[in-house]
Parts: sequence; C-alpha cells; structure tokens
Amino acid sequence: MIVLGIESSCDETAASIVRDSTQVLSSVVASQTQTHAEYGGVVPEIASRLHEINILPVLNQALAEAGVAFEDLDAIAVGHRPGLVGSLLVGLSAAKALSWSLNKPLIGVDHVHAHLYAPFLSCPSPAPGGRCPRIADGGGLSSSSTSSSPNPTFPALGLVVSGGHTSLYKLTSPTNLTRLGATIDDAIGEAFDKAASILNLPYPGGPHIDRLAQHPDANDRLIDFPISRLSKDSLDFSYSGLKTSLLYAAKGKPNPPKLQGKPQRLAEPAPELDDQRTRDLAASFQRAAIRALTIKAQRALDANPNDQTSFKSIIIGGGVSANTLLRAEFTKLAEQNNLALHIPEMQYCIDNAAMIAALGSVMFKQGHTDDLTLQATPTTAC
Ligand code: KG4
Ligand code: ZN
Repeated sequence: MIVLGIESSCDETAASIVRDSTQVLSSVVASQTQTHAEYGGVVPEIASRLHEINILPVLNQALAEAGVAFEDLDAIAVGHRPGLVGSLLVGLSAAKALSWSLNKPLIGVDHVHAHLYAPFLSCPSPAPGGRCPRIADGGGLSSSSTSSSPNPTFPALGLVVSGGHTSLYKLTSPTNLTRLGATIDDAIGEAFDKAASILNLPYPGGPHIDRLAQHPDANDRLIDFPISRLSKDSLDFSYSGLKTSLLYAAKGKPNPPKLQGKPQRLAEPAPELDDQRTRDLAASFQRAAIRALTIKAQRALDANPNDQTSFKSIIIGGGVSANTLLRAEFTKLAEQNNLALHIPEMQYCIDNAAMIAALGSVMFKQGHTDDLTLQATPTTAC
C-alpha cells in the first residue's frame, strides 16, 4: 500500500510517500524556521503564505524522489488537527483537491498522534545519492532496549513533547489513545524556546540549550530550579514556574509589586550573564525541564496495576524528543522499568509528513476514510 502524506500544521511544509505503513520512500520538509527566527516565533500569517508557495514543489519532489506517480497512490493522508488554521488549510485543501481529482481515499490524521508513530518509520533502501531519507545512527542512543523499529509493543506509555504539546497517553494500539495528562500552561518546547530567548540564544531555542548544556564546563547544578509536580497523583505538567525562575536567575529578581516604585530597583540583581553563566543556566534549566518528564512518566507507570494492562513500552515523539538529555534519561527509565523504548530517528522528531502518511496507512487499513467535508481543527498555537 502506497500512501501520500501531507503536513502543514505549523511552519513546516512537508510531503512524504510511505509504503506498507512504515517504509519511507521519500520525506521532503520545507522549513520556514529562518523566516520566523527574525520574529522570535512563528507568525501565523507568514506561515500560511509560505505554505501556499511551498506546497506544490514539496509535493512534486516527494513523488519524484520516491519514483511514484499519482496513479500509484492508494490513499492521501493529511494532518488536519491541531495547528494554525491558515497553515492547516493549505495542506488540507491540497489533499482534498488530489483526493477528488484522482478519486483516491482521503484520511485525516491527528498531528499529535502521528508524532507517536514516528519511531516506527524506516527506510527500505538507503539509496545511492541519498534520495531515500537515511536512517541516522540513533541520535546518540546507547541502550539496546531503545529501538526505532516497526514493532511497537502495547500497551504503551506515550509522551508527546513538542513546541505546542506536552502530553502523556496510554496507547493500546497506534490508533487507540487515552490522554493521561497534559501541560496546564506552557508546552516544554515553548519553555525551551522562551528560555533560549531569556539567555539571548536564537530561535528555535531547544537545540541551542541542548548544545550549551553538553559543554564539558556546563554546570547543571548551578541552580536547583523548581520542578513542578502539581498534586500528588497528577500526571499534568507545568513549565511557567521554571521559566520565571530562569528569568530571575538570568536578569535579576524584581521587587514584589507592593514595594515597586519609581525608579524600580531589583530586589536581587543577577550576576553578569557571561558565556559560563549562560551555559550553566541552560544546563540547569534543561535538567529541571527533563526531570519533570521522567517524574510524571514514572508516576504513570507506577499508577498502572501490575496486571495484563501493564505498560510494555514507552513511545516518545515530537521535536523535544531530539534532546540529548531526554534520550539518555528515558533510556535509563525504560531500562529500570524493563520496558522497550521507542523514540524517533532524529529526522522524524521534528514535524514531517512521513509520520502522517504512516499513521494514515494504519487508519486506512483499519477501514477509516474521510470525505471532502473533513475540517481543519485548529488551535491558537502550533
Ligand atoms: O514537533 P515540533 O517540530 O513542532 C511542533 O509540533 O511544535 O517541535 C518543535 C520544538 C521547538 O520548541 C524546538 O525548540 C524543540 O522542538 N526542539 C528541542 C530540540 N530540538 C527541537 N528542544 C530541546 N532539545 C532539542 N534538541
Ligand atoms: Zn509537531
């Protein structure tokens, strides 16, 4: 079965051809990051205009690289939720137009659920010339229990960590998910991006914080930033307190409002934000941000009674799953709990259309199709 996937929910215009639910024949991503970096975040109006420009070249390239013609397609899958409405509509309109004109089934795919299918993508033939998206070496993963294989094991604990989402799920199959918890304020990727901005690092900030935290001189214990646990049994997340603590550590702590007057003085001025302090704050922030994930994941595992419904694996997806510390910590957590860990190859951590095509294929096999009334279901952020 050959499925075309289309993704345009945020600032990546992507198209991919996937065979038999996991084999990626092509995966083309046109990223708008450079453009949005100038504004320190995604500008929705610019994003949809760029999707409009990129969608046809990206589609043509995906077909050409896969050596597949429109007639060869069995179905067209499209990410139709969640995301920015103007962005979603470009991909959805293209998918509907193709579905109607080619008379091929249309399948609407949830972008967040698709992130949890990304670990199961593979490339059948890393071709000479590298046209087939190459499988990386596991992104520095050390554990043999870590896999990027087409063999998910269920029930699984799913964790989506991206610019717009921080959510825990219980999955009994790739398409059967129950949400166990989610962020009550910022998403973890958003927190990384805001932290980077506080530390005067470029957008998107996650990879920069990751890189600085890996510096041999970086001290991740410089500041013991707060880790939000919420109530005793909560599986939700909160990143706003961590972000504010970093702000105070970097820029100084303001006076409480009642003492504020003019000129306003800092109650506790911060030391100069030189290269060493920037590295230390980045590493300390990252340690707290990732620790919040492992605490809640362990809570979810512990909350599950030791019967046939017990978790057999952990599946992680979304842009922040590229993070070096996250990958190392979840490798340990999976080992300690004797679970398989499924985490995407680096190229499939960030937004891509291969995950949309692949999950769309699974849904199609299960008999799911949509008609031309399929709606874009937006959110106010990506
Ligand atoms: O999944 P994604 O591409 O887009 C959304 O669906 O939101 O995730 C983008 C997010 C950004 O916030 C970016 O800073 C973060 O993923 N990110 C990282 C790393 N690489 C990307 N965060 C931490 N460490 C990284 N290495
Ligand atoms: Zn995403």
